[in-house]
Parts: sequence; structure tokens; C-alpha cells
Amino acid sequence: MRKKGILITGAAGEIGDALIRSLASRDQYQIITLDVRPLPTETSSLVTHIQGDIMDQSMLARLVSEYEIATIYHLAALLSTRAEFTPEAAHKVNVEGTLGLLKLAAEQSQWRGEPVLFIFPSSIAAYGMPDLETKARFPHVREWEWNYPKTMYGCNKLYCELLGIYYSQHFRQLAADRPVMLDFRGVRFPGLISAFTVPSGGTSDYGPEMLHAAAQHLPYECFVSPEACIPFMAMPDAVIALTHLANAPQSALSRRVYNVTSFSLTAAEFKDWVVKYFPDAQISFKPDLKRQGIVDSWPAGLNDNDARRDWSWKPEYDVQRAFSEYLVPNIRNRYQG
Ligand code: SER
Repeated sequence: MRKKGILITGAAGEIGDALIRSLASRDQYQIITLDVRPLPTETSSLVTHIQGDIMDQSMLARLVSEYEIATIYHLAALLSTRAEFTPEAAHKVNVEGTLGLLKLAAEQSQWRGEPVLFIFPSSIAAYGMPDLETKARFPHVREWEWNYPKTMYGCNKLYCELLGIYYSQHFRQLAADRPVMLDFRGVRFPGLISAFTVPSGGTSDYGPEMLHAAAQHLPYECFVSPEACIPFMAMPDAVIALTHLANAPQSALSRRVYNVTSFSLTAAEFKDWVVKYFPDAQISFKPDLKRQGIVDSWPAGLNDNDARRDWSWKPEYDVQRAFSEYLVPNIRNRYQG
């Protein structure tokens, strides 16, 4: 008999760290994690970790011979800035990697005779505003608007959403006598901010980098201009979004991919929040043209009404609470410790 499990890919990344802690505290299934990197010791004791590449088909085959996977959280990806340096490599990991896991999920569900849930973190990068004037005119973008990503990462995320929807429908048709075999669900996240980890290779990273640098008394040079504006979210809310969407009854869902957001800030406002708690912070602005262009192409805010209506999405942390109750106390602890 195979053991039942939840699979988390890209588990050594930022979302993985928070998601493991949350799932391990309440799920009865075994958690199997996959990443090219080892897991930090604090989380590795909570899961069965496999160090490997999602592109390694024989490793995936061995994995499913041992475990019956009921849910996949597919977090592995090359983020937006890093993907611009090696676009084809990013396409391989972000698209071919996702395709392989979608196929694995579909096969798993055929053996199980039950749907496999596939949870996919998509991104604000799936949008592409043509210019700053349009960005200002559409401050709360809906899911179907401005789907013209300008980065390889954004193209990959948008296309993988479509692949997930395609596979859900395709397998429903092939097995008309059975329930939906692949249950694909995605959320488009804004820039995420964790108190415990610093992201790498993303373009929204200037927010968390500014904060973590200030807590360590390090000077920080922000790579976008003070006016650059995008939405952000505290990491605990990102985990809530993923797990609530995973637990929502399918009948409640009117779409497969939902916007979720929390608060929008310009880089100058972000700095003001950091300085409020770390008055000695040394933050200057030296925009990098390429990264500034990416941030300018992302919406200043998202409309997440559909998620609020369909599965009662509501962030727990507004900007005040995110800084005062989650980010600052935990970051202080971390660096003082
Ligand atoms: N935070 C991601 C990035 O900056 C966007 O999803 O690439």
C-alpha cells in the first residue's frame, strides 16, 4: 500500500517554509517536500524531504510509486528578475516543470479514482500595464484585464494557469463517468513579505530587503524609484490564501485562478513604514532601469472581490498590523537572536 501524502515542490523557498509550518500543524497526511536545495533543519523534521529536480522524471516516478498524492502545492519557480537573465532556463523550470507535475497529478487521480488537487501560486507578474498612465487609470485590476505580461516569469505563470485549466477540462472529458480528475486552483499573489526569510531573484524583493537590512543596521539601496507602486501581502496571509482556496468546495468556485491582495504601497511609503520602526535605517534610491520597468508594468493594485465572495478570502494583516504585529517583532527577534 502506498502512503497518502501532500506534495510541496520548491519547498525550500519562502512560501514553502511558511506553508510547511502551517500544514504540519494540522494536516493528517504525510507531507513530502521536493527542492533542489536541502530544507532548513527547523522544517526538515516536519516532513519527508527529497532533494531533487522537478525535471527529473525517474525521481518523480519513484515518488509516486511510494506515495499516493492527494494534493500538490507546486511552488517551484524561477522568479521574475532571475528569469530575465536566463529566460530559456526559466521557461524550462517554470513551464516544463509545471507541465510534468500536471501530468503526474492527472495520472495520480486516475489511479485513485478521485480528483487530485493542484494548488498553484501565480503572480501579479501575469499582468502587463502598457504605461504608467494606464497603470494610474486602472488601480484595481480584475483577473481578465491586462493579461499582457512583459517578463518571461509572467508569461510562464499566465501560460501555466491556462495549462492547469486545460488539463482540468481535458481529463474531465476523457473520464466522463468519473468526477473531475484534476482540480487545478491558482492565486495571483502580490509581492510577499516574510519576517523569517528573504526572497531571492524576484522584483518585489526591494520591500522585504529594505526591512531586513534596516533590522540588521545595514544600509540599503532600493532598486526602484520612490514612486514605484505595487501591492504587497504578509506571508501568513499568503498561506491562508493557498490553504483556504484548497479547502473551498468546488461548487463555490466561479473561476480557477483568483486575485488576492492586501495593501498597496509606493517604495517611498514602504520606506516610511520601515523608518517608523527602525529610525536609523539608511535607505537610498538608485533605480535599476530593467527592474524599474518590470515593477512599472505590474498593477498598482488588484481587485480580489471574486476570492472574497467565493471562498471568503480576507487578509488578516493590513499594512499597520503587518508591520506592528508580524514583521517588526519577528524580524527584531530573528536578528537580535
Ligand atoms: N514576487 C515575485 C517576483 O518578484 C512576483 O511574483 O518575481
